[in-house]
Amino acid sequence: MHRLIRIVALAAIALLTILWGAVWAVRTDPEMFAGTRLQFIAALLGEEGAAPTSPPGVSVGGPFSLVDGDGKAVSDSDFRGRWMLVYFGYTYCPDVCPTELQTISAALAKLGADAAKVAPMFITIDPARDTPAAIGSYVKLFDPKLIGLTGTAQQIADVAREYRVYYAKVTPKGASADGYLMDHSGFVYLMDPQGHFAALYNPATDADDMAAGLRDHFSQRS
Ligand code: NI
Repeated sequence: MHRLIRIVALAAIALLTILWGAVWAVRTDPEMFAGTRLQFIAALLGEEGAAPTSPPGVSVGGPFSLVDGDGKAVSDSDFRGRWMLVYFGYTYCPDVCPTELQTISAALAKLGADAAKVAPMFITIDPARDTPAAIGSYVKLFDPKLIGLTGTAQQIADVAREYRVYYAKVTPKGASADGYLMDHSGFVYLMDPQGHFAALYNPATDADDMAAGLRDHFSQRS
């Protein structure tokens, strides 16, 4: 009798563990189960400077509600009719973000008058430190055309999830509570004038390639 109870109890525990694991996994990343997540990562890690199309079955981007450098509420629909060039990072970033923002600025300069077709934006993944004023003045150091965006922790989490952006707080040993770093993925997203994903540029893409890629997309739509 004791043995039967033990078997039933163990089976119940095993079942609960499996259920909990499945629920956790689906909540964490529903697409992992469609196998698309792996394809997407493979596309991201490819040798290509830009992935010309969205990986099959994966939607990238979507509606967002954020706050600009003037403290004004901004949404994705405000940019319809222009190509959104979207980069995620944070103003305390020691090297990667400044380099990428310089690349974006140089690419826009190469476009000449066509740069007006682009809404280049830098969305912080560190809203705790990047206030509207902080992100607004930071982006202007790189390019007056750049739009700095921040928001509540929830607004940032929402837009990062839509764009498949990974970010995590990292506190180096001995750092103060405010001296943390943010680990984050470093892709630049091109969204078409209707707000749909058009291309992805990885950190190895230089300004020439980015400008050429943008021109290519403009010519396909004009
Ligand atoms: Ni960065």
